[in-house]
Amino acid sequence: RNMSQGNQTTISEFILLGLSNQAEKQKFIFVIFLSMYLVTVLGNSLIILVIGLDVNLHTPMYLFLANLSFADISSSSTSVPKMLMNIQTKSQYISYEGCFTQMYFSIVFVVIDNFLLGVMAYDRYVAICHPLTYTSIMHSTFCLLLTVCPWALSNIVALTHTLLANQLIFCNDNTIQHFFCDLAPLLKLSCSDAMINNIVKFIVGLSVITFPFALILFSYVCIIRDVLRISSMEGKWKAFSTCGSHLTVVFLFYGTIIGVYFFPLSTHPEDTDKIGAVLFTVVTPMLNPFIYSLRNKDMKGAFKKLINKSHFFLLMS
Ligand SMILES: *[C@@H]1O[C@H](CO)[C@@H](O)[C@H](O)[C@H]1NC(C)=O
Repeated sequence: RNMSQGNQTTISEFILLGLSNQAEKQKFIFVIFLSMYLVTVLGNSLIILVIGLDVNLHTPMYLFLANLSFADISSSSTSVPKMLMNIQTKSQYISYEGCFTQMYFSIVFVVIDNFLLGVMAYDRYVAICHPLTYTSIMHSTFCLLLTVCPWALSNIVALTHTLLANQLIFCNDNTIQHFFCDLAPLLKLSCSDAMINNIVKFIVGLSVITFPFALILFSYVCIIRDVLRISSMEGKWKAFSTCGSHLTVVFLFYGTIIGVYFFPLSTHPEDTDKIGAVLFTVVTPMLNPFIYSLRNKDMKGAFKKLINKSHFFLLMS
């Protein structure tokens, strides 16, 4: 319909409106997001470093955690630096290619977070409900498969959405009501029919959330059933404490989804999308390292060892 409007100008760049257009708020947003971004990068890098350097932590649970930390760093790196740069340079532009690249990677890392939480729940299920066969089930090839599959699947999902969005025609309106090129606000801009994109977005989105969630639910039902069978209080606590951190992250992640989309703070759907995106790409990636390192004895121990070691090297030099 819009094709026949004559001078069909294809858009070569988009405008990212950001979180706010008021100048005083921009400064505040800059400081807050820069701080959160630095905490995310430092905290998660520390987790990867601690796990990488301590052989005692080279178990499936911690290797999956290192993968989650890597996905968290990448997830906030897709959107936050560009947003900070735009605030600082007082420019709102992003190129067409930049926009699609940003969309591709933001989908990859949110999807992978979902899958990794499912894989981590399965790992705890095997550890608690089948402790004797744990090492034979979670051998290194299978663990590698459990990390490669989420990476592969999330890239397929992102590629599907990106290629489908690339079929759309963007003509008059190039203003994205968001702080990065997210799929939903981009689809709204298109002047061609985005019905197929929306159907695919709905089906893929639903399955990407449902399958890991079902795996988590199944794992924890079995875990709770088995833990309740343990007679000593101390044994119960010991079994359950290994999944406390994971359970906290799961509650944080799905609690956020439910909170944002079922009890929205604002009546504007755009605001809900923005709040959701801030929570998923900035806040939860920042909190994951704290949850894991504050609640976990082994992580704390390995961290102290690392500090002592670096102290030693500093004294030597
Ligand atoms: C992710 O997990 C795999 C296998 O489970 C492991 O070999 C790899 O080192 C992990 N990646 C990171 C960044 O730790």
